[in-house]
Amino acid sequence: MRDVAQETMSELNYTYLEALQTARWERPDIAALKRTAEGSWLLESHSMTARLKRHCHDFDVDVVAVYQLTPDKLTDSEIALIGQEACVVREVVLKGDGLPWLCARTLMPASTLEGQGGHLHALGTEPLGQHVFKQRASRRDAIETANVVCLSHQLHARRSRLWLHNRPMLVAELFLPDSPVYGKEIPA
Ligand code: PHB
Repeated sequence: MRDVAQETMSELNYTYLEALQTARWERPDIAALKRTAEGSWLLESHSMTARLKRHCHDFDVDVVAVYQLTPDKLTDSEIALIGQEACVVREVVLKGDGLPWLCARTLMPASTLEGQGGHLHALGTEPLGQHVFKQRASRRDAIETANVVCLSHQLHARRSRLWLHNRPMLVAELFLPDSPVYGKEIPA
């Protein structure tokens, strides 16, 4: 039984990641977004992991896939944000207390992985943002949002560019139905 459950879970991970790929990204109206319930999540400029961890006891990263992408496979908008370079793609599902909360797909250009970004190769199950925001030379910009339909749920998604030592990465995130984004925020 356990194997069946695990298999279903991993199929779901792929369903989420495929849904994320259908997002049509748009620059949000920041002032209007700030007034919505999800606004503070979508506009979070620091670590999403740190934010999510405030809502659970156990936090896990399932690394679904890590693979190389040739520059010709990038979309025009991805090229505009991170340049036309070979990338390593990292796809993960973040879980709070065992429930899938967020799936993410990160494009890491080869030049970002060189030099000071080299340890990104060896992240494993350490959350990306947690690692990046430990470094002083990091920031997030170019936040875009989308609504994504997945398994008849209308879900929030965002894409943002993370800078590490002045080298970019592009992180797309889909907030899954059980994530605290759709519930009440716990005060800091
Ligand atoms: C990751 O580890 O790849 C990761 C973690 C948290 C995010 C996005 C990506 O919000």
